Amino acid sequence: MEPQFDLVIRGGTVVTAADTFSSDIGIVDGKIVALASSLPKGSIDEIDATGLLVLPGGIDSHVHLDQYQGEGIVMADGFETGSRSAAAGGNTCIVPYALQRKGQSLRDAVTDYHAKADGNSLLDYGFHLIISDPTPAVLGQELPALIADGYTSVKIFMTYDDLVLKDREILEVLSIARQYGAMVMIHAEGYDQIKFLTDKLEKAGKTAPYYHAESRPQLVEREATHRAIAHAELVDVPVMIVHVSGEEAMEQIEWARSRGIKVYAETCPQYLVLTADHLKGLNMDHSGAKYVCSPPPRDHASQEAIWRGIVNGTFQTFASDHCPFRYEDAEGKSNPKGRTSFRWLPNGIPGLAARMPILFSEGVIKGRISLQRFVELTSTNHAKLFGMYPKKGTIAIGSDADVTLWDPQRKVTLTQSLMHHGSDYTPYEGIEVTGWPVTTILRGQIIFDDGQPAVTKGFGQFMTRQVAGRL
Ligand code: URP
Ligand code: ZN
Ligand code: ZN
Repeated sequence: MEPQFDLVIRGGTVVTAADTFSSDIGIVDGKIVALASSLPKGSIDEIDATGLLVLPGGIDSHVHLDQYQGEGIVMADGFETGSRSAAAGGNTCIVPYALQRKGQSLRDAVTDYHAKADGNSLLDYGFHLIISDPTPAVLGQELPALIADGYTSVKIFMTYDDLVLKDREILEVLSIARQYGAMVMIHAEGYDQIKFLTDKLEKAGKTAPYYHAESRPQLVEREATHRAIAHAELVDVPVMIVHVSGEEAMEQIEWARSRGIKVYAETCPQYLVLTADHLKGLNMDHSGAKYVCSPPPRDHASQEAIWRGIVNGTFQTFASDHCPFRYEDAEGKSNPKGRTSFRWLPNGIPGLAARMPILFSEGVIKGRISLQRFVELTSTNHAKLFGMYPKKGTIAIGSDADVTLWDPQRKVTLTQSLMHHGSDYTPYEGIEVTGWPVTTILRGQIIFDDGQPAVTKGFGQFMTRQVAGRL
């Protein structure tokens, strides 16, 4: 008799955003075709998942890979090493950014990022568009056409010299998003306030990496978050505030929701386990540069506030904001100008492989969140908000067989060698976690197993996405 399934994952505990149940999973042609407590034997392959949680593959919807950084600075991960690190951390899908450089056509930017990604990714991916130059042609023609082609989300910035948009430009982008159903992710920190504080700090000789945190206090994030939300209210379009770092921005988001404004919010591991003190390094030395990201990690009270938002639903997604640079590298955190002032340090830290273990250990194991909430925050909501559900983000008949086998009891100390990324450090070095992804399966194929990649680069496919979903 012909085998009924290509693969059966047998004996595990399946967890979705809605349920936890014991079930085998039958897979044919990369899709889930059966869920039952005891599927017949005789499939081509079998995996014994006894004692393991069977989770929807992680989806990380905030990832920077091979992104142009300006003269002399190079990101530590392209699509091969970045996707490898993601797979090591239990992910089956990522959504990196395709960055439009000033003066560049948006379509050309997308073509460039396809060339970087094609044949290199181990896991499935889409692209968010970063719009830095919203010309009439970009807004009137290119953006609508790209949304129709399945690039259904955009990131815009309220800071950074090369990326910042004026308020009027933000309003124009939001109007197009409303018209065509795209999701707009907003980096909410105020450009002028940061410049003002940076100039003052430098004049006072305060140039060490730690002062990056002082140049971007919560007020700067709070003001921009409020302004972004007001713009969204004016245009009447949902937006997502990304990488929220503490209570003050959260209060704006919660206030807006209480007025019926549709605002989604994302937070990241750095705001749970790092503080601004990490930027001090050893005695305010340059090693603090390893933790420089924006918004900066804050303090213990902010970590508690972020937990409150993770528990009570203020946040819909938990993403890594993986933005990796090498530390011992003149094209990374140790670039010559960055040694003279924090102003020139590349912003960003790696986190793809650490994201799910940190939230599982600190959230589920410590009793703060349920397994359902964990799955929602690390997979299902990313799929829903960014137009991939139910193909991705759940375990259901007809969905892609994207599954992470998770050992809820395995104790691991996070360390560089487990990250499988291109950076030469992890900001999460030494953190002890309980719970670990032991096998990552994409479309029914094991892509990472027992600490090693199990497919060659190029197995991952580009995905067009539906228009943004609503939660
Ligand atoms: O510091 C960060 N977050 N760098 C990545 C770029 C961004 O703003 O997300
Ligand atoms: Zn950002
Ligand atoms: Zn980012």
